Amino acid sequence: MTLSSTRGISPEQSAREEELAARVQASFDSCRDPRLKELMQALVKHLHAFLREVRLTEEEWHAAIEFLTAAGRITDDRRQEFILLSDTLGASMQTVAINNDVRGDATEATVFGPFFVEGSPGIEPGGDISFGAAGEPCWIEGTVSGVDGDPVPGARIEVWEADEDGFYDVQYGDGRVAARAHLFSGEDGTYRFWGITPTPYPVPCDGPVGKMLEATGRSPMRASHLHFMVEAPGCRTLVTHIFVRGDALLGSDTVFGVRESLIKDFERRPPGTPTPDGRVVDGSWTQVRFDIVLAPSDVRG
Ligand SMILES: [Fe+2]
Repeated sequence: MTLSSTRGISPEQSAREEELAARVQASFDSCRDPRLKELMQALVKHLHAFLREVRLTEEEWHAAIEFLTAAGRITDDRRQEFILLSDTLGASMQTVAINNDVRGDATEATVFGPFFVEGSPGIEPGGDISFGAAGEPCWIEGTVSGVDGDPVPGARIEVWEADEDGFYDVQYGDGRVAARAHLFSGEDGTYRFWGITPTPYPVPCDGPVGKMLEATGRSPMRASHLHFMVEAPGCRTLVTHIFVRGDALLGSDTVFGVRESLIKDFERRPPGTPTPDGRVVDGSWTQVRFDIVLAPSDVRG
């Protein structure tokens, strides 16, 4: 309890509140699963401390229930408001930080986000993930290796991103699959593909999380990024993004996902510049290198 929260509260009232919090915690004493018991008792402890600290009014309690109900109603298999809520409260990034400690030179992780979809199309090395999504072409290449420096062949690399208007395919509303795919690293650990140059976009604002951001005067904008998820046997699965150096939003990403090591140089090539694979591009294009280092999976990190 903070000083401000106890101000004006009689010892009798305080004792009554503490007794209730203790009684609810104790209701989980006989839980047979020790981890579940720990989680529930800590949740109750901190929840009651929050309620008492802010002296929550009954109107505010009702508003909170309505908020969570609205988050549930708008969530379906293509829209995940609860991940968005977790992201915008920094809970996702904190969980990532707790579970992905620094391990040698392993690439840092960041938030998963709400727009990953299982079953993305596969592409060959050098293929194009855009599938018609609008945007400036971007050539992405790099290697996948372990912390020992050895290449990791056959790593499954999932990539997904928004189009130049800031929309993911799941937001198109017509079932199209675009700007997402998977590919595999080669025998030498290398990978390469065409995507589109990332641009900033707002998180979906037509639900309760958008209302929360507006009510609190927060920006809904995410820094420009391209999502990666990399899986390989014996390695810790890496969920991360790369960000665009120079993006004005790097310091105010609304999900707190930016890490310095993930900011990359997207070098813009003027129209007519030959491309790495000979593809003819109409207009400018960009090029970025992202060398991925996977931590071993046998170390909980
Ligand atoms: Fe994203």
